[in-house]
Amino acid sequence: MAQEKLYLYPIWIRLWHFLNAILCLILIITGVSMQFSAPSIALVNFDTSVAIHNIAGIVLTINYLIFFIGNLFTFNGAQYQIVYRGLYKRLITQAMYYTFGIFKGESPPFPISRENKFNPLQRFSYVFVMYLFVPIVFISGWALLYPQTIPTTILGTSGLHLTDLFHIISGFIISFFMIVHIYFCTIGKHPGSNFKSIINGYHEAH
Ligand code: HEM
Repeated sequence: MAQEKLYLYPIWIRLWHFLNAILCLILIITGVSMQFSAPSIALVNFDTSVAIHNIAGIVLTINYLIFFIGNLFTFNGAQYQIVYRGLYKRLITQAMYYTFGIFKGESPPFPISRENKFNPLQRFSYVFVMYLFVPIVFISGWALLYPQTIPTTILGTSGLHLTDLFHIISGFIISFFMIVHIYFCTIGKHPGSNFKSIINGYHEAH
C-alpha cells in the first residue's frame, strides 16, 4: 500500500523554523555564557557573547514577525487557535497516550490531518511558547538593549531587575521547551520521521 504523506510544513514555515532553532541555540549558548562568565573562565569571551547575543536577538525578532504575519494571513494560523471547549480532556487524553498508550502500542488518539497537524499538547505548548514566552523574551531583550526605556521602579522594585528577571525566566522556559520539544519530535513513525518532515515538508503517517 502506498504510504500516505501529508504536506504540512510550507517552505516559509520550514525556513522560519530553521532560523529560529539556530538563533535560539546561539542565544542560549551566549546567554548562559554571559550569566556565568568570570574573567578567567568564560564559555565565550564576555564582549563577544554580548555582541553575538544582541545581533541574534535582533534577527530573532525580525524572524518572529515573519512567523506572526505568516500565521495571520495563511492557513497555518488556524493551527494555533485553541478551542477551549473540552481542552482539559483532550490534554489529559494526549498525556495518557504519551505516558501509557504509546507503550502498549495503541494508535494516537488525535491522528494528524491537514486541519489538525498538532496533537492537543503540541498545539497548547506551541501557542504558549510562540505567543507568550518568545514575545516576552524579545520585548524584554529590546528593553535591556535600551535600558533608558525601562522605568526606574516598577511596583516598588528596580525596573531593570524586573525586566532582567522576565528575560531570564522566559529564556529558561524556552530552553526547557526546546529540550522537551526535540524529545517529543522523536515520537513519530520512526524516531527520525518528524525531523525529516520539518526539512522536506511532508508528514509520514503512523
Ligand atoms: C534544534 C532545535 C529544534 C529542533 C530539532 C526542532 C524540531 C522540530 C520538528 C521536527 C518539528 C516538526 C514536528 C512538529 O510539528 O512538532 C518542529 C516544529 C515546530 N517547532 Fe521546533 N525544533 C527545534 C527548535 C525549536 C524552537 C527553539 C522553537 C520555538 C522557540 C520551536 C518551535 C516549533 C514550532 C512552533 C513548530 C511547529 C511549526 C508549524 O508547523 O507551524 N522549535 N520542530
